[in-house]
Amino acid sequence: MLLLAAWAAVPTQTRPIADAALPPEGTPELARLVHAGRRLAMADCVACHSADGGRPFAGGVALDTALGTIYSTNISPDPQAGIGRYTLDDFDRAVRHGIARDGQTLRQAMPYPRYARLSDADTKALYAFFMHGVEAAPDVNRPADVAWPLSMRWPLAIWRKTCAVSRSDGAP
Ligand code: HEC
Repeated sequence: MLLLAAWAAVPTQTRPIADAALPPEGTPELARLVHAGRRLAMADCVACHSADGGRPFAGGVALDTALGTIYSTNISPDPQAGIGRYTLDDFDRAVRHGIARDGQTLRQAMPYPRYARLSDADTKALYAFFMHGVEAAPDVNRPADVAWPLSMRWPLAIWRKTCAVSRSDGAP
């Protein structure tokens, strides 16, 4: 048990995306990237991250899971309430690897194992969209209604790492 907890606490190294800088604001290159990212986000992320009648991508959608009710988070570019402070690498770690910026493992209600297959180019387009194509929303994240001990996040890291090993993408 202790060994497992120790393994769970080892930070995961991921491969940074090469050429991480976004094109300068106002350029057609950035506009193209934002456009590509919007198409991906509208096909997928919007269903969970935009509540009916709420601000776009401000989260707060209740998802019923076996653990309890989990709320999607604010992924608008607000620096406090959303992901405005995330670098492309932070964003990539959350979306493709299930690791939040503070190092915690995201719950599987966020289907990151599915997104592990996104290409670097698609990940960057999504990031460009969330940073430049979405309005910052001040909505504060709602904590999950999950009771202890299921509320602990370290066992999730073990699941995440086991999954990544079986994907053999080199980032347990
Ligand atoms: C099936 C529902 C669902 C879908 C689809 C989904 N998400 Fe999520 N997402 C969640 C939930 C729930 C969380 C919060 C998980 C937690 O609290 O552990 C989350 C968390 C996140 C986070 C972490 C935010 C933070 O505060 O650290 C990011 C970034 C994110 N999602 C981006 C995306 C992107 C980009 C897409 C589309 C490619 C997407 N999500 C699609 C449910 C979803």
